[in-house]
Amino acid sequence: MAADDDIVTPWNVTSKNDTGIDYDKLIKRFGSSKIDDELLVRFEKITGKKPHHFLRRGIFFSHRDMHTILNLYEQGKPFYLYTGRGPSSDAMHLGHLIPFMFCKWLQDVFKVPLVIQLTDDEKAIWKNIKIEDAIKLSYNNAKDIIACGFKPDKTFIFSNLEHIGNNPAFYQNMIRIQRCVTFNQVKGIFGFGDSDPIGKIAFPPTQASPAISGSFPFIFKNQKVHCLIPCAIDQDPYFRMTRDVAPRIGYPKPALLHSTFFPALQGSQTKMSSSDNNTAIFLTDTAKQIKNKVNKHAFSGGQATIEEHRQFGGNCDIDISYQWLRFFLEDDEKLEEIRKGYTSGEILTGELKKELIEILQNLVTAHQETRSKITDDIVKEYMVPRDLGF
Ligand code: TYM
Repeated sequence: MAADDDIVTPWNVTSKNDTGIDYDKLIKRFGSSKIDDELLVRFEKITGKKPHHFLRRGIFFSHRDMHTILNLYEQGKPFYLYTGRGPSSDAMHLGHLIPFMFCKWLQDVFKVPLVIQLTDDEKAIWKNIKIEDAIKLSYNNAKDIIACGFKPDKTFIFSNLEHIGNNPAFYQNMIRIQRCVTFNQVKGIFGFGDSDPIGKIAFPPTQASPAISGSFPFIFKNQKVHCLIPCAIDQDPYFRMTRDVAPRIGYPKPALLHSTFFPALQGSQTKMSSSDNNTAIFLTDTAKQIKNKVNKHAFSGGQATIEEHRQFGGNCDIDISYQWLRFFLEDDEKLEEIRKGYTSGEILTGELKKELIEILQNLVTAHQETRSKITDDIVKEYMVPRDLGF
């Protein structure tokens, strides 16, 4: 099947293939670069850290200009991290955690400032959510994000609806970017149509502006600093536009690290989605809900009967429990044992699911415990525009 049949946009991710999106073809289509062994070896050599299992397993699989970032780090020159979240509901799901877990690790490795944009304006426009409610969702989601362990002295989190009006430098960059992009270009990149509200057409520069260090004078003191953006590859259209515009307004192009999608329970043809409860495990799910969802909905690559399974073995490439273990089981040896055991038929689907359920229950319970200690006052501390010691 041609990768052109795979749909990957910020709003829709689908493939007709059992194994999901053809990511190699997507790299070609988007014009990014593969995260190859050479990059990983260089990463380890320069940082002295073994690459995160998301990198080792190709979960973060594509990049733009990551060598530039490593060059800067090698030369002791600064850069910063930028990522974000569109807060459309109270409950974030496991897929949303991926870029944040990875960003937390990158922040620990590089010890650099991180800015996190909460696009409550985007969600107010796209989902027709009341402005006041969208802001509340930002604060709510900020608790889940903070629970990932970001350093308070190096992290600035902001709600677009609250922050931009108080930060002229940010707004001025939005206008500089808006001036550089035509209606034709925005239609070409994002597919907006004649009946879309004009807010959609004006929005992309808002997501681009945090990649311009001048948008945060209180952090970067008006220096032109390189930016690295970790995100799933659905967000790339925003940053293709940003990379086109940045040099025209006197800034370096932002670098990117792209992840694959954490698949839906039903299979890799689509990503986990907030709008369908049964496709996703939410960070608010109970241990019992997790168990029931995995047992009932996780698509199995196993055979129809135990006898057949023992004889022919299971298919890890399409088995969601195995695919999810790749994201959350850190131990490489154990994962390999499971892969071999399931492929040979020694491990049954029920046993594989049991392994996954335990890992997910531990992860989600630990997250809930940490989150319950994050008060509104703590959130406000992260959201105050301030000096991050840069
Ligand atoms: P949002 O809220 O849709 O998603 C937040 C982040 O999670 C990634 N993501 C996933 N990653 C892996 N598997 C999945 N199933 C999955 N679903 C979502 C997204 O790629 C994103 O990184 N417009 C953005 C918010 C935003 C942003 C940014 C994101 C503003 N600035 C800079 C990344 C970088 C949005 O609505 O994300």
